[in-house]
Amino acid sequence: MTNQGLKYILVTGGAGFIGSNFIPYMLNKYPDYFIVNIDALTYAGNAENVRLTEDQKKRYKFIHGNICDEALVQSIFKDYDIRGVFHFAAESHVDNSITGPKVFFETNVMGTYNVVHAAKNKWMKEPFVFNDGFEDCRFHHVSTDEVYGTLGEVGLFSEKTAYAPNPPYAASKAGADFVVRSYFHTFGMPATISNCSNNYGENQHDEKFIPTVIRSCLNGKNIPIYGEGKNIRDWLFVLDHAKALDTVFHTGKCGETYNIGCWNEQTNNDIVHLICRILNKIKPADEPYENLISYVKDRAGHDMRYAIDSTKIENELGWKPEAKFEEALEYTIKWYISKYEA
Ligand SMILES: NC(=O)c1ccc[n+]([C@@H]2O[C@H](COP(=O)([O-])OP(=O)(O)OC[C@H]3O[C@@H](n4cnc5c(N)ncnc54)[C@H](O)[C@@H]3O)[C@@H](O)[C@H]2O)c1
Repeated sequence: MTNQGLKYILVTGGAGFIGSNFIPYMLNKYPDYFIVNIDALTYAGNAENVRLTEDQKKRYKFIHGNICDEALVQSIFKDYDIRGVFHFAAESHVDNSITGPKVFFETNVMGTYNVVHAAKNKWMKEPFVFNDGFEDCRFHHVSTDEVYGTLGEVGLFSEKTAYAPNPPYAASKAGADFVVRSYFHTFGMPATISNCSNNYGENQHDEKFIPTVIRSCLNGKNIPIYGEGKNIRDWLFVLDHAKALDTVFHTGKCGETYNIGCWNEQTNNDIVHLICRILNKIKPADEPYENLISYVKDRAGHDMRYAIDSTKIENELGWKPEAKFEEALEYTIKWYISKYEA
């Protein structure tokens, strides 16, 4: 399908946490973009996460399907004049990758192969030669800082840090990164990769850390913290991630990787105490929420510290995180209060 003046963009996994924040942001910012979203609606996806205005709905098509379905992915490139791809679809929960790794390798590695291969076949005549008119196409692969492994007390992950993925989730994302990398080097695919730190914001699945902490507080249940709660992550507001992806897609250099982080290292204990403090203020209970904190058996092979050096994207592309951590976290907590009390 082509529509005079519209640019067709394929988003994979857009009914999940980050994709569902990204799609309305992009449709709002680019009135000439039409987004096709393919999502398998696994337990982690919900088509209703994508909340659009009436105008945005006219430039949006949802396709319920699996990126591992080669014929379906190819048919999307046949049916729509796709000129850009944002590839989010993935199994994304580390704990699940420990109990059931297979689907992580299927979706994250083979699914990525299907999407990048179909894009290559549509856009490229032969290695390094585009079909006429497809020279400006772009493929962006959304990845994670977890591919770099774990840090000690000092140091940061830069784009030059060697890959050392530890859990199966990270290994499958590393595999996906290498699939995309190989398509750039071998076929000249116009591809970029970004490796981002932990996100927080609306629509994150209940299983993840921040929603779990908020839900536990609201239900008066123990707040489970792995081990001693000393693991460190660099927390980024999801809309800042969306803006970074937009920036890399439009101004990043093909073949390059961009790390996306927020210079915002927090231990799990810090996060829980901050959430409790905000909830004590906006939704006081009989006792301070901190009384619910409980420590549980640590995750197997739990990486100790992730921290991103985002100098490259900041200096070369001019992106910077905008959200203020405590404010954006309070906004996020209020959103989950509405969700859980609805
Ligand atoms: N959440 C984070 O903090 C974070 C940080 C860095 C990178 N990432 C990456 O960003 C991307 C999106 O993460 P998220 O947190 O939104 O994940 P999510 O689990 O919330 O959403 C994933 C989406 O992909 C869909 N999906 C899964 N398997 C599929 C398949 N085989 N075919 C089609 N759709 C499928 C799911 O239905 C879901 O809607 C992932 O690639 C993840 O690795 C996430």
